[in-house]
Amino acid sequence: MKRKKPWGGRFKMDTDRMVEAFTSSLAFDRNLAGADIRGSIAHARMLAKQKIITAKDARAIIRGLEEIRREIDSGGFPWREDLEDIHMNIEARLIEKTGEAGKRLHTARSRNDQVATDLRLYLKERLAAIDAAAGALQKALIGQAKRHLGAIMPGYTHLQQAQPVLFSHHLMAYVEMLGRDRGRLRDAFARADVLPLGAGALAGTPFPIDRAYVAKLLGFSKVAENSIDAVSDRDFAVEFLSAVALLMVHLSRFCEELVLWSTTEFGFVELSDAFCTGSSIMPNKKNPDVAELVRGKTGRVVGGLVSLLTTLKGLPLSYNKDLQEDKEPVFDAADTAEQSLLILAQAVATMAVHAERMRAAASGGFLTATDAADYLVEKGVPFREAHHLVGGLVAHCIDAGRALDDLTAAELRKFSPKFGADAARRLTAESSVASRKSTGGTARATVAAAIRKSERTLSKLKPLPI
Ligand code: ARG
Repeated sequence: MKRKKPWGGRFKMDTDRMVEAFTSSLAFDRNLAGADIRGSIAHARMLAKQKIITAKDARAIIRGLEEIRREIDSGGFPWREDLEDIHMNIEARLIEKTGEAGKRLHTARSRNDQVATDLRLYLKERLAAIDAAAGALQKALIGQAKRHLGAIMPGYTHLQQAQPVLFSHHLMAYVEMLGRDRGRLRDAFARADVLPLGAGALAGTPFPIDRAYVAKLLGFSKVAENSIDAVSDRDFAVEFLSAVALLMVHLSRFCEELVLWSTTEFGFVELSDAFCTGSSIMPNKKNPDVAELVRGKTGRVVGGLVSLLTTLKGLPLSYNKDLQEDKEPVFDAADTAEQSLLILAQAVATMAVHAERMRAAASGGFLTATDAADYLVEKGVPFREAHHLVGGLVAHCIDAGRALDDLTAAELRKFSPKFGADAARRLTAESSVASRKSTGGTARATVAAAIRKSERTLSKLKPLPI
């Protein structure tokens, strides 16, 4: 004998089993249990304050919901797949526990404004945690940047050696990206920070509810202004997915570099054994799986963004069951981003940096060719002419198997009489780096100042208020 659905009044037949399984969101929306209970407690308190239900009923409801929270936390909750979703599971259990009182909880409320409220509460919490995790990775990067402040590496464009840069400068580029990512997470937080509850199914409610009071109880800054919009849009979830998708793209680029830098050929860094794995056949292998997986998992987060955008496209107002498809991409993206950030923060903090390998890679080539051209410009040669002249010098070096940074002043002078006694010294990687004092450049003092500025910014950034 099947048990009745809470909405079963108008139905003559039981739901088909296949339909039951197909429409159920219980497998994933259990993640919303905590938010759902918080939301229901606030709703019950408001209903009592407004004398829509009695204070006694509200107390019974709240006690019941708190018991349910403990049952869920301890794994003792009797989940019912036939009850479709987390909201009806909790409500049905509440009615089992409190009878009449529990049956009054859904007054002036619909699952439509309820689920939108739950998802916003949930997202705010996850956003705060992801933002903090991004901060942890920024700190780890800054830690390495400070520890290895003098280390010079080849800077690349087109993955070809371009100009020497400080390793710290390179790491700080990611600190900047993460700073913008955190800005986007914070923007998404502000947009999620709006209370839909009170919108009812779509049109509002005839009961004298106090939405501002519920917003205050739940920590929302605002209430949604339009009941139809409140139950039908998920743009806040799209913004969240968009912010984490871009964050993951940044992490993926960094991870690609970690993989590259960990190769025998580069050997710039070595990830800790604790953050690598081996091969089942090749005893020699130490694989940077963590970095590879973060890079790989970026795909599913980007997919989640595309998935939700596609779900929303073409939906008529207001609520549609399609919206149930908003949850899995959001949950998955939140888990993926938070785990990726936390694990990378540790991997970065514990990695060994081989400054001598970087320095070696930056010599013997032509990384200071721009410096040679700049030198000639200082002596009055127009830049385009200097560029051409040094191009010839590089071609000569390639033919002669020489490096730019070990040519003597006499050799340099064969190419231009403007090369003075100080020219050879100016073509070292150290001199090149030291000369780039422009704002945002790679000179040691400039990078040190950038590090200090980032540290100040980070220390002033407050945790998101949940
Ligand atoms: N499980 C549903 C969802 O996630 C809850 C809202 C259902 N509302 C409805 N009118 N059927 O969207």
